[in-house]
Amino acid sequence: MTASIINGKEVSQELRASMTAEVKRLSEQGVVPGLAVVLVGEDPASQVYVRNKEKACHDLGFYSEVHRLDASTSQADLLALVDKLNKQESINGILVQLPLPGHIEEKAVIDAIAVEKDVDGFHPVNVGNLVIGDDSLLPCTPAGVIELIKRTGIEMSGKHAVVIGRSNIVGKPVSLLLQRENATVTMCHSRTANMKEITRQADILVVAIGRANFVDAEYVKPGAVVIDVGMNRLDNGKLAGDVDFESVKEVSGPITPVPGGVGPMTITMLMQNTLIAAKRAHGLA
Ligand code: GUN
Repeated sequence: MTASIINGKEVSQELRASMTAEVKRLSEQGVVPGLAVVLVGEDPASQVYVRNKEKACHDLGFYSEVHRLDASTSQADLLALVDKLNKQESINGILVQLPLPGHIEEKAVIDAIAVEKDVDGFHPVNVGNLVIGDDSLLPCTPAGVIELIKRTGIEMSGKHAVVIGRSNIVGKPVSLLLQRENATVTMCHSRTANMKEITRQADILVVAIGRANFVDAEYVKPGAVVIDVGMNRLDNGKLAGDVDFESVKEVSGPITPVPGGVGPMTITMLMQNTLIAAKRAHGLA
């Protein structure tokens, strides 16, 4: 049996279409969501991500500012810019593109972003609110994963979800969000013993371990939903997920491809967070 493909690009386009309509309604009330993106240095991958965010803002009718700073920018100057953006009314969301150059402490910068403008969901207060189940801005990739699982129509409640990977930006938050959907969650990571025995019990398998084609068909229970968060650049320049798509799709249920699965959802959820932050700033949410 060949599994159905979860098309992240299509889901993303649907979400963006409904956001565009909402932005139009809001702009009639004088509310325009604004996103500031800060890029320090010239990392080529970061430059592509930042351009894509700028384009998404333009397409959706958001106000956007991109601050491109020299790689030698001091931490104090970067913090001063964050402080200015925190106070700027036209800006509802602030994203400082990571990684930052080595002389800048990422944590100091993330901690400096106003909690209500932290559209990455990386600020410790937003992370803490996620843990205790209070309202917070959710980290974009994990929120996109949950959205894609919902779109399969497969109920998460009572299911066994296994997450491979325990990073702060994907593994940990996605585990909490799955738990919030009433799944029973097991976390695996690079030191997990007998990983296949655990993943073969998963009704929902989320893979974010950062190793190309790590999960093959032996890891997967027949019919399981498989979400691949991996983005690994191979020596031949091609992009590969953490899941060996060709073998796994022969046994799994709905599965995300790479590219075209989780990837397109991340920026879409960033736009959704910015929209939420704008509505909250104007007392509309
Ligand atoms: N670099 C790669 N992905 C991300 C992300 O989601 N947010 C930020 N701020 N930087 C990134």
